[in-house]
Amino acid sequence: MQNFNYSIPTKIYFGKGQIKKLAKVSRYGNKALLVYGGGSIKGNGIYDKAAAVLRESGISFFELSGVDPNPRIETVALGAALCREKEIDAVIAIGGGSTIDCAKMIAAAAKYEGEPWDLVLDGGKIKEALPIVCVLTLAATGSEMDGFAVISDMDKNDKLDTASELIKPAFSILDPKFTYSVSKKQTAAGTADIMSHVFEVYFTREKDAYLQARMCEAVLKTCIKYGPVAMEQPDDYEARANLMWASSLAINGLLSYGSDVPWCVHPMEHELSAFYDITHGDGLAILTPVWMEYVLSEDTLDKFVEFGVNVWDIDSEKEPMEIAKMAIDRTRTFFDQLGLPKTLADVGIDDKNLAKMAEKLDGLFTDTYVPLTGSQILEIYRRAL
Ligand code: NZQ
Ligand code: ZN
Repeated sequence: MQNFNYSIPTKIYFGKGQIKKLAKVSRYGNKALLVYGGGSIKGNGIYDKAAAVLRESGISFFELSGVDPNPRIETVALGAALCREKEIDAVIAIGGGSTIDCAKMIAAAAKYEGEPWDLVLDGGKIKEALPIVCVLTLAATGSEMDGFAVISDMDKNDKLDTASELIKPAFSILDPKFTYSVSKKQTAAGTADIMSHVFEVYFTREKDAYLQARMCEAVLKTCIKYGPVAMEQPDDYEARANLMWASSLAINGLLSYGSDVPWCVHPMEHELSAFYDITHGDGLAILTPVWMEYVLSEDTLDKFVEFGVNVWDIDSEKEPMEIAKMAIDRTRTFFDQLGLPKTLADVGIDDKNLAKMAEKLDGLFTDTYVPLTGSQILEIYRRAL
């Protein structure tokens, strides 16, 4: 097991009625910036609940709405300027990963003199940030409990992730009921995203991280059990609660500490979103089985057998290669059953920009689970067409 420094400082208030904990924002001051997306929080009543708690606690708030899925650097700049102008004490995100990521970078950019994009290119430049508080409304990215933010500059077709300890939320409110109104499409995409976060660390070359591998399998099995339930019955509390907690645990560091490996499918998906603005989980569902098939070899066989037997309950007496291929098939079929797209064509992507995307990633995958060159990445994209 590798050395690691454990640091998961975000406090979580989980469960029904926890929105009242939003009053704790007052410990940072009495002026907040409320950041949200396209208005779903107005339709499902979450906005009203949050606003009532803030008012009762004497916290005045300014608003920045309209954060796009795949949040833009322009919105970050707008929010940072607002924070400075209004002398904001804390940034509150109410939404999914896009809103939270945008709020995180607003909090950092508000304390930075230069261009906000500098902080996307280099998280090390984040030296200070306003306190970040989240009210999560979609189980997917885990942004509510991690130190990452993914921001796009669509003019340049760039979608990049940045990381800093300083953008880990101070606290996050996770009420599973707040995800009842999430559409089938986003529920499916969110489930694929959680699973992909686990795959990115489960498929590691670190062999003695036994505990981490078993925890990964537990999160994967939770998604496999409850993803379809939440699709079928959007207000099934147990399903929503399990998915919500899985979302946070998948990427908060718990599963990767001691077995870390550079991610692979995520950067490939971010290129798809950067060029075509597609839903993150859709892109992951398309690329994951293709990537798995591509990296399956005698070298990786044992890991895929472990995956097939422990996650998909495939009979361990079968031939190892048969188990591995069955495991990949089961993964593809599962995504298909959730109604996720299967090919790039399904989300309107042809081969026009694939070479450009692969070129941008060339040289970055030298240390991934299976190292990949630019031309191998291009081949994976092509097989996903
Ligand atoms: O904009 P609103 O009105 O809020 O609607 C959103 C949006 O249309 C809607 N939604 C959210 N909660 C809802 C709801 N609709 C009804 N009821 C609710 N309770 O869902 C749509 C998608 O929202 P979005 O925030 O974009 O989804 P998600 O949480 O999947 O976030 C995706 C973004 O996060 C990045 C992705 O790349 C993408 O940009 N990621 C962030 C990560 C991180 N910070 O750690 C890691 C991930 O791997 C990922 O890359
Ligand atoms: Zn993701």
